Amino acid sequence: MAVLDPDQIVRFEEDGPAVVLLDQRRLPAEVAYLTCRSVPELADAIRTLAVRGAPAIGIAAAYGIALAAARGDDLREAAAVLAASRPTAVNLAWAIDELLPEPTVERARELHADEVDRCRRMAAHAAELLRPGTRALTHCNAGGLATGGYGTAVGALRAAWERGLLERVLVDETRPLLQGSRLTAFELEQLGIPYAVIADSAAASLMAAGEVDCVVTGADRIAANGDTANKIGTYGLAVLANHHEIPLYVVAPTSTVDLRTPSGAEIPIEERSPDEITTRFAARNPAFDVTPASLISAIVTEHGAHRAPYVESLAALV
Ligand code: MRU
Repeated sequence: MAVLDPDQIVRFEEDGPAVVLLDQRRLPAEVAYLTCRSVPELADAIRTLAVRGAPAIGIAAAYGIALAAARGDDLREAAAVLAASRPTAVNLAWAIDELLPEPTVERARELHADEVDRCRRMAAHAAELLRPGTRALTHCNAGGLATGGYGTAVGALRAAWERGLLERVLVDETRPLLQGSRLTAFELEQLGIPYAVIADSAAASLMAAGEVDCVVTGADRIAANGDTANKIGTYGLAVLANHHEIPLYVVAPTSTVDLRTPSGAEIPIEERSPDEITTRFAARNPAFDVTPASLISAIVTEHGAHRAPYVESLAALV
């Protein structure tokens, strides 16, 4: 049983019925599973990041719709509860829409397998962009944990490592919930890829010192013009990368591309509890930011590397 196998990260169990999640809040200290027997329980698990990452929450919601159908729940109500659990990643709404016409476990499993397959395909395309000896920097966790298997940005690094193109990875800690130092480091360790966790604020000076050849991240929602929402801090990295003339690649499946949202200005940004920052003082906690398309060197999907003007190269995806 490998902890990063797709069915370990999220699965449906008929004898329950239940959606079972690897509880990402407890990693890396503990490998523990969370059993959700109802849609409100699953929505709570998504809201509190027991399962997180744009494709993974979509997959979990797909199993949630199948769970609601198996229980005989009102599907519209289940869809509304799940869709409200997190606002920024479009994969959530996308997966729910995919399941509603055919709310079966088989369809949810197919969607899960398709997402993992998309990851493998985009990772191969992304690896082609990297030169031998690449020292990459990544932010948050866009690995198998975030996608239900294999990963987007981490998948690209994994494919590059397997092809002998990757020297090592700098992993942003990713404040405040530490998806980088808890989850990406855990995955890279499991995969045997050399890495070092850095404080988010160390990226600038390491770029200036010539220690970063490219930045590779995932995405939560890509607007029609290529503006991309991802974990808070990605925009700052993109500005830094631009200043140091380092390419920034966004690696994401087409389920993250939202052609109905014209630009980043229309992407809803989740503001989480200030308690995640400090319980002592007043705080603000936007969980995502938007990187303007002009700072993105390429958006890599399962169909290949898309370049500016994104309004044209992304439109070709439908
Ligand atoms: O708040 P999270 O942990 O769900 O944020 C996740 C990210 O920002 C990831 O980079 C993104 O979902 C891409 S996942 C392949």
